[in-house]
Amino acid sequence: MRVLELRHVTKRYGNFLAVDDISFAVEKGEILSLLGPSGCGKTTTLRMIAGFEEAKEGAVMVSGVDMKGRRPYERNVGLLFQDYALFPHMTVVENVAYGLKRRNFEKSKIPARVAEMLSLVKLKGFEDRRPNQLSGGQQQRVALARALATNPEVVLLDEPLSALDAKLRQELQFELKAILASVSATTIVVTHDQEEAMSLGNSVVVMSAGKIVQQGSPTDIYADPKTRFVAEFIGRSNWFTGQLEKSTSGMAELKAKGGFRILVPMPASSLNDGAFDVCVRPERVRVDAAIESFGDTPVNAMRGTIRDIAHLGADLHLVVEIAGGQLITATEKYIGQKIEQSGQEVAVTFFPHDCIVVPSGS
Ligand SMILES: Nc1ncnc2c1ncn2[C@@H]1O[C@H](COP(=O)(O)OP(=O)(O)OP(=O)(O)O)[C@@H](O)[C@H]1O
Ligand SMILES: [Mg+2]
Repeated sequence: MRVLELRHVTKRYGNFLAVDDISFAVEKGEILSLLGPSGCGKTTTLRMIAGFEEAKEGAVMVSGVDMKGRRPYERNVGLLFQDYALFPHMTVVENVAYGLKRRNFEKSKIPARVAEMLSLVKLKGFEDRRPNQLSGGQQQRVALARALATNPEVVLLDEPLSALDAKLRQELQFELKAILASVSATTIVVTHDQEEAMSLGNSVVVMSAGKIVQQGSPTDIYADPKTRFVAEFIGRSNWFTGQLEKSTSGMAELKAKGGFRILVPMPASSLNDGAFDVCVRPERVRVDAAIESFGDTPVNAMRGTIRDIAHLGADLHLVVEIAGGQLITATEKYIGQKIEQSGQEVAVTFFPHDCIVVPSGS
């Protein structure tokens, strides 16, 4: 069931198009991650859904009802603002109760509901504190409790974890997911952290300059980006550019700059439609210490020299310089026995089906 649907929603500030004809739907209980660079229109989109801005064109539908003309408190939407916006003069309890009072929640039931929410976000014992007596993570939980208290049909979270340090952020990410699942919330979470978007969302919408550039499952977006922008925005990538030509058995071959031959899957659009770039994700690149005897014109294989090695947790990040000075990044699981060294001559290889082909300049 579609709980939230945006149909061709557009927002202008003067002549500036902040949100440009976007459409998407969120199913009951689903978490949609809205992702994109700063200024691309994420907060504006949430503000239109919550009713703080009016969409001039298009419609915001909640459970099949057009929200046009409804004030924020007349919409069954809970919004966690980018800066939390807790009321500094109110206690934790008063902050969480605020929305309930505003929406005429039965007065005698408010204390029980607030207690239920504080237990959900693990803040029992903090009832009488004010925001300036709480840590960033605790404030974030109060804001979450406040957003969820009215049992909204749609929950909007704008950068819910951005004020936290990396470790706390990761811990709270799992908690947040569990809390949202426990109340079957239909949620949009805005973030510009791509890992967070991939880990929280059942589906991902990527925006750029007010437009949706791709939407799909996290796996789809990572493994099958349709443009160079999406491929570069989501995850790390190595790029080859050059002329793409038809090859044997449904494959295409990139005559890449640097003289490399790279066999890739045939792109969906015609080869005559323009130039293409090829992306290989670092975890798909294989680095071997033993240089195999390459032929004269090896395919998807190149010689190189290791320029940098970094151990990042369980991963080994390698930077290899190939002909023409191009740097290739490779990541592999560190399992102890491979001893690569900076300056070492290596072979870099990857499979044709691990190459992602996108239109040049996309
Ligand atoms: N009230 C306003 N008047 C004029 N322009 C605005 C207004 N609010 C936002 N904008 C512009 O609209 C664009 C989108 O802003 P928005 O806040 O939606 O971006 P965002 O994607 O949330 O960015 P960030 O990741 O930095 O929070 C920006 O260029 C911003 O400057
Ligand atoms: Mg924003």
